[in-house]
Amino acid sequence: MNVAIVGSGGREHALALSISKSNLLDRLFCLPGNPGTKKIATNIQIGINDFEKILQFCKENKIDLVVIGPEQPLVDGLSDYLRVENINVFGPSSYAAKIESSKSFAKSLMNKSSVPTASYREFNSNEFNSAIDYLNDCKFPVVIKADGLAAGKGVIICEKLDEAINTIKEFSVDKIFGEAGQKYLIEEFMSGEEASIFAITDGEDFIALPAAQDHKRIGENDTGKNTGGMGAYAPTPLISKELEDEVQHKIFRPIIKQLKKEGHPFIGCLYAGLMITKEGPKVVEFNCRFGDPETQVVLPLLEGDVLKLLFSAATGKLDMDAVRYSGGCSVCVVVASEGYPDKFEKGFEITGLDIDDPQIIIYHAGTTEKEGKILTNGGRVLGITSVLKSNNLLEARNKAYEAIKKINFKNIYYRKDIASKALRYL
Ligand code: AMP
Ligand code: GLY
Repeated sequence: MNVAIVGSGGREHALALSISKSNLLDRLFCLPGNPGTKKIATNIQIGINDFEKILQFCKENKIDLVVIGPEQPLVDGLSDYLRVENINVFGPSSYAAKIESSKSFAKSLMNKSSVPTASYREFNSNEFNSAIDYLNDCKFPVVIKADGLAAGKGVIICEKLDEAINTIKEFSVDKIFGEAGQKYLIEEFMSGEEASIFAITDGEDFIALPAAQDHKRIGENDTGKNTGGMGAYAPTPLISKELEDEVQHKIFRPIIKQLKKEGHPFIGCLYAGLMITKEGPKVVEFNCRFGDPETQVVLPLLEGDVLKLLFSAATGKLDMDAVRYSGGCSVCVVVASEGYPDKFEKGFEITGLDIDDPQIIIYHAGTTEKEGKILTNGGRVLGITSVLKSNNLLEARNKAYEAIKKINFKNIYYRKDIASKALRYL
């Protein structure tokens, strides 16, 4: 098979690495890819939003499967655009991708299918007074969320009423999130630990992969601003076999069934961001794609053939035996540019990338190559990942941090406590 992966981050490097091991693979392309994917695939300089060029490339190179990594092209309809031309795509239609791009759509889907989630009300920007009336009756803290995509920044947790009023003013009057915040949700605050689970689905059947835990905040002990994710580990001991079954039955099955019933089956990776509360698992959010950096720890744990799995989902006959998890653990520490998620400098040479250890994977995310040197080129630069055959998370964490010591660039920053929370459960 000839396969094209759309995207250029750490997630796409992880997808490329797993797919590159498949016996079914002939040629692998990354559009546009990064210096990490260049070692295992052919990078093609086509942007993720250039639908016409992507289509033309697929036709000219007889692509058998397109795997779309990031949410934006999914939301903008790249899957639909390619499917009309009879190209197999792993990734949902723009309609099904609304599960991520509209929180109001996701909530209504959950309500229709009785999926456990925080209670909420939604408001439009012209409903300022009714939103204040509602807030007056709320128990605090409350969570205020922009309906649309806001680069992970559209969720504000408000401890007090005046803070909440100020936030809805910023959403609806100051329009800090533009169109994305013109509709917003006021949501019950849920306490608990968070976990991410991916379900690979052909629109009807699904397979849930081992649960991971992300570390969204920039600072240690989950402090400071939200980021795309500063590290992850899998499997998380937070999710027992019983909880996993509960998530499958109460969350994935009803949502996948509901979307099919509405005539828009979800084909791809459905990502459930969960809060494990005292009352059981509840949905914080859905994403319409693989998570980043969760993919970097989940995929290397799978035995079998990831390409076979994705192709079978894309072509409507999910192969339930294509992959399995039978043990092992993985820890990924994201190495970032100091200043991220706000302003940061780039263009610094990265040294120490030549680590030769079968238990370590160095995923590239925000890097670029210039005159034979690898330079920093983004906020999240690398994902230093250990993968062990044993379930010793402590050892996996130590291995990842040992490897990081060998890597250097100006303004390097990373969290020192990735996977620490898990050790409490062991
Ligand atoms: P989201 O973009 O919806 O995933 O929200 C970003 C982060 O905000 C989540 O990972 C949670 O840490 C937090 N969050 C969102 N909704 C809630 C909620 N209802 N209760 C508590 N925390 C939440
Ligand atoms: N790691 C969070 C996300 O991919 O959205």
